Amino acid sequence: MERDELLLAMKDRMPEKRYIHTIGVTDTAIELAKHFGEDSKKAEVSAILHDSCKYADRDWMKQVIIEQQMDPTLLEFHHELWHGPVGAYVAKTEFNVTDEDMLNAIRFHTTGRALQSNLEKIVYIADMIEPNRKFPGVDDLRAAANKLELDDLMIKCISHSISFLINKHQPIFPDSFKCYNNLLLQKKGKVKE
Ligand SMILES: [Fe+2]
Ligand SMILES: [Fe+2]
Repeated sequence: MERDELLLAMKDRMPEKRYIHTIGVTDTAIELAKHFGEDSKKAEVSAILHDSCKYADRDWMKQVIIEQQMDPTLLEFHHELWHGPVGAYVAKTEFNVTDEDMLNAIRFHTTGRALQSNLEKIVYIADMIEPNRKFPGVDDLRAAANKLELDDLMIKCISHSISFLINKHQPIFPDSFKCYNNLLLQKKGKVKE
C-alpha cells in the first residue's frame, strides 16, 4: 500500500487529533531518516502505522498479546503500552508489512528497547518531537535533532521520557531502562553493538 492509502486506513481508526499527530510523526520520521542516512520509505510506512492500535479495543489487544505469545510483562503494565506490540501485529497481518526492522520500529515505539536499530530510534524520536507535540522541553529535543548524533539524541529522548514518568510516580517498563542503559554502556564501549 502506498502513503495515501495507508493514511486513509489510519483516518478510520483514530480521532482527528491523533490522525494529525500521525502525519506529523510521518513527516518528522522521513526528515530524520534523510538527515541520518536511513531508509526514508521504511521510516514513512512505519510512522504511518505506528499508532494504528492506539484506540483498539482493550480486551481484543489483551487477547492478541496472549495468543501471539508476546512479552507477558506487558499485561502487568498500563494498557497504553499495548498498542505498540499489537500495532506491529496489525501491520503484519492487515497491512502486509514483512520487514522485521519496520515491525520493530512500530513494536517498540512507546518503550524503546536495548539494541535498537537506527530505524527504531528514528520512529521513537519522531513520535516524541513531531510538530504537534506540546510538552515542557520538547523545543529543546527538537533543537537537539539538528545538532546531535542519533544515539545522543536517543539518549536525550529516552532520558526525558523516563524522568517524566518518575516525576509522575508512574512505573517504567523494563525495556525503557534497558534502552537507556544499553545506549550509555555502548557509548562507554562496555557492550558490543
Ligand atoms: Fe503510540
Ligand atoms: Fe504516536
